[in-house]
Amino acid sequence: MDSRRDIANTLLNTLRDCWPDAQGLPDDLYGALEVPPDKTLGDYAFPCFRLSRALRMAPAQIAATLAQRYDQPALARAEAVNGYLNFFLNRGNFAEQTLSAILRAGDRWGASDLGQGKTVCLDYSSINIAKRFHIGHLSTTVIGNSLKRIYDFLGYRTVSINHLGDWGTQFGKMIAAYRHWGDRETVERGGVDEMTKLYVRFGQEAANNPALEEEGRAWFKKIEDGDPEALEIFHWFKDVTLKDAMRVYDILGVKFDSYAGESFYADKTGAVVQELADKGLLQDSDGAKVVNLEAYDMPPCLIIKSDGATLYQTRDLAAALYRKKTYHFDRNLYVVAYQQDLHFRQLFKVLELMGYDWAKDQCKHVSFGMVSFEGESLSTRKGVMVYLDELLARAKEKALDIINEKSPNLPDKEEVARQVGVGAVVYATLQNNRIKDIDFRWDQALNFDGDTGPYVQYTCARCGSVLRKAPDLGDTAPDYAALDNDEAQQLLLLLSRFPDVVRDAADKYEPSMITRATTDIAKAYNKFYYEHRVLDDADPAGTQARLRLTAAARSVIRTGLWLIGVEAPERM
Ligand code: ARG
Repeated sequence: MDSRRDIANTLLNTLRDCWPDAQGLPDDLYGALEVPPDKTLGDYAFPCFRLSRALRMAPAQIAATLAQRYDQPALARAEAVNGYLNFFLNRGNFAEQTLSAILRAGDRWGASDLGQGKTVCLDYSSINIAKRFHIGHLSTTVIGNSLKRIYDFLGYRTVSINHLGDWGTQFGKMIAAYRHWGDRETVERGGVDEMTKLYVRFGQEAANNPALEEEGRAWFKKIEDGDPEALEIFHWFKDVTLKDAMRVYDILGVKFDSYAGESFYADKTGAVVQELADKGLLQDSDGAKVVNLEAYDMPPCLIIKSDGATLYQTRDLAAALYRKKTYHFDRNLYVVAYQQDLHFRQLFKVLELMGYDWAKDQCKHVSFGMVSFEGESLSTRKGVMVYLDELLARAKEKALDIINEKSPNLPDKEEVARQVGVGAVVYATLQNNRIKDIDFRWDQALNFDGDTGPYVQYTCARCGSVLRKAPDLGDTAPDYAALDNDEAQQLLLLLSRFPDVVRDAADKYEPSMITRATTDIAKAYNKFYYEHRVLDDADPAGTQARLRLTAAARSVIRTGLWLIGVEAPERM
């Protein structure tokens, strides 16, 4: 049940009853209902000045009229104060309805079919071949994964795409280097690190031997031309890189529907360039071809270099068109760091100039800030751990230390440590608005007390433990009067609003809204838990109500954690 929705509907009917002839009234009041900062002002409030124009009446008078007519005692009563209509939920009834609805929905509380028939493409993680999975790719991976889960939950069809960075002359150089100094076994064993070494060596040797550069170019040309030997090595480089990345994806629970990366579009750029030319958008610029974007306050968008090579951008143009044609998306999201802001503004503008209106309102760069580590920016790299697999392994170790100290007798300690360690990292990444820079600190992220993953996970496990300890109350009817207190009511309110939060998070591409809401629920549960004895032998009916509240809290916290990509251990 959604009390806000119900109040909005009843209020709208009341409004129409009071002024049947009024013109220009809103046809939905859901968005207009506010949540007052102070509980003495009610659980929801409607500012009546919004109607004064349409009704030609003072807000206070509108509020008074509506208050008199609003009649829905089972849900809420309305009070007029200073031009506001304040709604106070009927507590017992609110508790009963909220809990029944949540427990009936189970892990689908907040889910909907809002997105039915609509498709969202999500481009995230999008790592580069022959490079280690760098912590710079943590945010995109984790934000993208969460958005995918959120959209799935809302009934959209999602297409998650790992737009691999697997095209460019560097791959020709790497093949040349491999043919000179590499061997299969070493690369197999050393993985991406070994490829990097080869690449670095190529740079050093090429400084004294210009013929090498030529060789590198020739190998890239061979990749482009589909030479079997070149392709075999190139694909093998990709496999080795992806094998490393898969380990990280498995740990994080991240999945992709497509790994079509830049190379996939290499043979599709010709058509794009032709189309740009046909539409009169291409200009010559010192031998290169560009789209002039001066009128939009942007530097020219480079499409073809003077040596004839295409660019990252050219392939992104081809990719956007391909995604539209293949998936018929309603939204096309790019979860990429804000450094690429100009790249995406140019991309969307060029698509728009090509006549694709969808570029404007369906394509979106979901950008995010930088990650630093214990105060050190990652570019310095001195002694800072930057690789994702190492980071996650370290997180698990540290979590294990804490668990050994706090609950040495816990079964499955290793497994719980993994869930807590990884959860701490993911939570910290999704804790604040994505555009904010993040400074990751171990002490903070792994604190069991505070706005952290482990704290929320711990609260969820606590709910589980309360439920396990509960006596069998059979079908004792719950006495909801036991929840007529501020702590329980606050918790209920947060639980009832969770579906709104999920929708908002989807609209704003902001998983942090779910992180915050879930944390608030955990805090509210703990407050309730400390103030009220849940299990009281003398009061089975009250106990039943408190247990239902506990079960609902646990269920919604689990869902919230799942939506941000964090697991919830049974016990901690
Ligand atoms: N591989 C790129 C990088 O690591 C990100 C690609 C993002 N996706 C895209 N369609 N451009 O910076």
